Amino acid sequence: MSFQDFNFFGKRVLLRCDFNVPLDSQGKISDDFRLQRALSTIFFLRKAGAIIIIISHLGEPQDIKNKRKRKKQLTLKPIGQRLSCLLREKVLFSKKNKGRSVQRIVKKMKPGEILLLENLRFDKGEEQNSLKFAKQLGRLGDVFVNEAFSVCHRAHASMAALAQVLPCLAGPELDKEFNFLSQMLQNPPRPLVVLIGGNKTESKLQVIKRFLTIADYLLLAGEAANTILSAKGLWPSHSLLPAKEIEMVKEINLTDQKIYLPLDVLASCDQSGQGIIRQTGPAAVRLDEDIFDIGPETVNVYQEIIAQARAVFWAGPVGLFEVEAFSHGTREIALAIAKSQASLKLAGGGETVAALRKFNLTNDFSFISTGGGAMLNFLAGEKLPGLSALGLCHPEASSNEPKDLVV
Ligand code: 3PG
Repeated sequence: MSFQDFNFFGKRVLLRCDFNVPLDSQGKISDDFRLQRALSTIFFLRKAGAIIIIISHLGEPQDIKNKRKRKKQLTLKPIGQRLSCLLREKVLFSKKNKGRSVQRIVKKMKPGEILLLENLRFDKGEEQNSLKFAKQLGRLGDVFVNEAFSVCHRAHASMAALAQVLPCLAGPELDKEFNFLSQMLQNPPRPLVVLIGGNKTESKLQVIKRFLTIADYLLLAGEAANTILSAKGLWPSHSLLPAKEIEMVKEINLTDQKIYLPLDVLASCDQSGQGIIRQTGPAAVRLDEDIFDIGPETVNVYQEIIAQARAVFWAGPVGLFEVEAFSHGTREIALAIAKSQASLKLAGGGETVAALRKFNLTNDFSFISTGGGAMLNFLAGEKLPGLSALGLCHPEASSNEPKDLVV
């Protein structure tokens, strides 16, 4: 049964969201895009008369040894307050995410009411995909709705084991994300232009390898491009690169005509943008400098290619866009995609979302994925445990399955 057809009236819905939002040095939410993305689903459930129990993680609390510090820094309480402001509805908060005290709160809830439980990762069982923890969560609900595509690459209790405990449904946003990304892999309008920038080099190299067989143009920037330039001997700091990445680059056919690398870059010794900035070819970047943006020649070439696109996929800014002096490349590329006639425009990853929000261009895209790692793993052809738990097969699943041995 689909989410839209399910009768939620009076049902206790465990709604898994990804409220793992960026926090500033004071612990304040610096970007609430992930909260905003959950609003329509929460409104829908409210209107349908569900008792809404939202579950999420925030950060990596198990890495903070001091329990008090952990609770103070990574509590979901302020997230509940922000959610309440965005919804203009009361959002109850429970300091516990399992046990009698939460069960008592849930028992008193009426259809349409909303409760947010404390950070799931405060409990070790979450990351261990513990069935025991999933059962403790399961006691609070009648049905489990997964609306957290961006966590689907984690085999955690609230993503995988919980689906064994309760009937489960894919949330509408998760479903949309799955369908858009699947379309990108299977039958995108052509030409398909893929632009990969930003960091997370290892995952990006996997995606580049995968898109070599799918995309018509592959425009590269950021750390993955630097790694490739370095492997080709076109950027002088190759001695600093991890051996694993160099090995991965060897698996990519660098002579493929689809691959475009920066022709010119903005290099500087100072990432604040206050020092001397040189526009130069990558090979002439000095060892005391770093690359902080693509240069104007590269922007022109990439813009011309994007203008021909019928589908665009973009993951990762092309420069340090947070610093004005290095924001030109990312802004121009974002504008080129926004203006293009492409009928399918997808973008994803935390930094790309932040750039699009900064330039006020989120509405010019068909879909923006909130997922970083999950989106990249999916596009690289991996099966995601959170999706498998919902019975959603990767579009390339059959080719991923290990072949039976013929004896
Ligand atoms: C993300 O931000 O990509 C998801 O919330 C997953 O978070 P994690 O990388 O801490 O598991």
